[in-house]
Amino acid sequence: MRKLKLDELNRASVAEFKEQQKLPVAVVLDNVRSMHNVGSVFRTGDGFAVEQICLCGITSQPPHREIEKTALGATQSVTWNYYEHTLQAIEKLRRDGYQIIALEQAENSTMLNDFQPEPGKKYALIFGNEVNGVDDEVMQQIDWCIEIPQFGTKHSFNIVVSAGIVLWDFFAKLNL
Ligand SMILES: C[S@@+](CC[C@H](N)C(=O)[O-])C[C@H]1O[C@@H](n2cnc3c(N)ncnc32)[C@H](O)[C@@H]1O
Repeated sequence: MRKLKLDELNRASVAEFKEQQKLPVAVVLDNVRSMHNVGSVFRTGDGFAVEQICLCGITSQPPHREIEKTALGATQSVTWNYYEHTLQAIEKLRRDGYQIIALEQAENSTMLNDFQPEPGKKYALIFGNEVNGVDDEVMQQIDWCIEIPQFGTKHSFNIVVSAGIVLWDFFAKLNL
C-alpha cells in the first residue's frame, strides 16, 4: 500500500477547525506536570476536535517551547483556558451544562466499556497529575468516575494514552 502524502490528508486549516462541529467534550488537566504530556493532549484534542482544554493549577500554558514539541501547532487550533484551581474550572463547566467526569481508578467507578455518553449532553473529562492522580477535593465534586480497564502489571496508563482511549471511545459511541 502507498502511504498518503501530507497534502492528500485534506486536513482542516486552523480557521476551518474553529468553525467545524466538535466532540461535545472539554478536557480538564488537573495539575499535569509534564509539558510534553500537555502538548500531546493538545495534539490528541485536535485530532478528536474537542471543544476546549482547561489547564488547571500547575499545568503549564502555551506558548511554551516544551509544549510545542509535542503539540506541533495544536495549541493554535484547540480553544484553551487557564484556571488557578481545578474546582474553578469545574464550577464554570457545570454552569455551562457539562457533566463532570473524572478519569480515575476509584471505588465504585464505572468501567469505560459500561459508560454510554448520550447525544445532546456535554462532558467535562478530568485527567489527573502523573503521580497523584485527580485531586481528592475534585473527586468530591464529580458526577461520574470512569475507569479504563487494565490487564497487565502496571498500575495506570500514561495520562495522554488514557485521554486518547477515552476520546476515541466517546467519539465512536456518539457515532459522530
Ligand atoms: C499516570 S496516571 C496517575 C496515576 C497515579 N498513581 C494515581 O494515583 O492515580 C495519570 C492520569 O491518567 C489517567 N488514567 C491513567 N490510567 C487510568 C485508568 N486505568 N483509568 C482511568 N484513568 C486513568 C487518570 O486521569 C490519572 O489521574
